[in-house]
Amino acid sequence: MTPATRLLKDRLGAQSPKVAIILGSSLGPVADAVTAPLRISYKDLPGFPVPRISGHSGEVFAGALAGKSVLILRGRGHPYEQGDAAIMRPVIETLADLGIMQLIITNAAGSLIPSMRPGSIMLITDHINFSGMNPLIGEAADHGFVPMTAAYDGRLATALRSAAQAEKIRLHEGTYVWFCGPSFETPAEIRMAQGWGAHAVGMSTVPEVILARRFGLRVAGLSVITNLGAGIEGASPSHGETKSEGVKAVGDMVKLLSRFCVGAT
Ligand code: HPA
Repeated sequence: MTPATRLLKDRLGAQSPKVAIILGSSLGPVADAVTAPLRISYKDLPGFPVPRISGHSGEVFAGALAGKSVLILRGRGHPYEQGDAAIMRPVIETLADLGIMQLIITNAAGSLIPSMRPGSIMLITDHINFSGMNPLIGEAADHGFVPMTAAYDGRLATALRSAAQAEKIRLHEGTYVWFCGPSFETPAEIRMAQGWGAHAVGMSTVPEVILARRFGLRVAGLSVITNLGAGIEGASPSHGETKSEGVKAVGDMVKLLSRFCVGAT
């Protein structure tokens, strides 16, 4: 059991959430939908990465979303902050220790298909790891050989599709490609990623999915599209745009995640 697990267990008392949600850039306000939250700063949780970039606070919210007990992680550490692909390992390991079974990972991403405009939400059905890094490098014994064939859980995807339909939210679907960042991609890199069959590009999520599968969690991924990829229709993405466009999707994300929680078991 990690030291953070012990601390969180003490604070959670009788709460035993089975669902956790990681909130990506500018989606932090989704956490405000949690009723009667217990709030714990990442600073107080040993090993948790304290986010150093704007658009990410670092706080755990424990409480109810649509009446279901959830743990919301507001903010993440990115591999580009420290050159460490395993920066989120203590978080994911702690979630597993706590008995979380389902993890929904959200992010802000650039679109690789012009018809998927900023403000859209994309269900991640698969990913491409273009970073050259892996959070399981150095893993003891054979624990690193994690199958990634069905990394994104089919049942969670079905539940999210139903939730989107019930809320009349158009849910796009596609493959997410991880570029390490923090610089944005070049137009040539974007064209390459399009050629590979990817639909969205971003700087997070993939290492968290790999870690979550290592620790046996079922995973779903949701991208909020904040911009077109570099060069598409002349796009030149910036962090400012990511933040300002990401915030606009908060309302739809709250509806989608709340509806998902209603049906979560
Ligand atoms: N590229 C990488 N990461 C991103 C983007 C992008 O275009 N938009 C939001 N996060």
